[in-house]
Amino acid sequence: MSGIPAHSGAEGVVCTGLRHEYVVDGSPVVALDDVSLRVEAGATAAIIGPSGSGKSTLLTLLAGLQRPTAGSVFVGETDLTALDERRLLRLRATRLAVVAQNPFRNLLPYGTCVDNLLFAQRAPRSHGRSDLPAIEPLLDEIGLSRVAGTRCDRLSGGERQRLALAAALATGPSVLVTDEPTSQLDSVTGAAVADLLVSTAVSRGVTVIAVTHDTALASRMDTRFRIADGRLVP
Ligand SMILES: Nc1ncnc2c1ncn2[C@@H]1O[C@H](COP(=O)(O)OP(=O)(O)O)[C@@H](O)[C@H]1O
Ligand SMILES: [Mg+2]
Repeated sequence: MSGIPAHSGAEGVVCTGLRHEYVVDGSPVVALDDVSLRVEAGATAAIIGPSGSGKSTLLTLLAGLQRPTAGSVFVGETDLTALDERRLLRLRATRLAVVAQNPFRNLLPYGTCVDNLLFAQRAPRSHGRSDLPAIEPLLDEIGLSRVAGTRCDRLSGGERQRLALAAALATGPSVLVTDEPTSQLDSVTGAAVADLLVSTAVSRGVTVIAVTHDTALASRMDTRFRIADGRLVP
């Protein structure tokens, strides 16, 4: 059809020689330089490092939200950097899920939990996915059954972050990338979200890559990549 294989469970993520420059006041600013890493299909990985080190930039490149200045990003067998806009959009809709740092950026504030999951499924469905996860078991697994009919803007911070995670998983992704998923939560709620992130993603066969300052979350992941001044460090 469009030359992109259909979703087929977890997929690995491999980037090689990634470089990203932003242009600021007409001059290039190097945000990432020569970053190569591999996350196996179904594994979990944390990206850690100080503020301004390039973590969010790396995440946007892995999620196909920006194109790198140089280097390649493979999701499974597909090189994101070789796709035209239409194919990239389709790949993002059908195989990649992103949970932004602020859960409201992922969610409809006036929609209920159920509304939000149905809405999240529109894009993958419109691109031909007919095997999306059932909503009720997903809400149950994420611990939101009790508030399934509650409006998002009436949920607690922890419930909202869980709903953002559920909305991402509702798209049936093979890879989920998330930027600071626990940063706006207290430590107990954060630990519960971290548990869910790891357990539900693994049980659903999703590769997870999370940027985090949360050492408790990072320690639960299979691999940790440390980044400083735009480069991976040991
Ligand atoms: N949209 C942008 N335009 C210009 N510079 C940016 C932009 N986003 C990030 N940067 C710069 O790129 C570097 C890495 O930023 P970022 O990826 O946000 O790091 P982190 O997520 O680790 O805090 C920083 O120097 C930052 O100022
Ligand atoms: Mg960041």
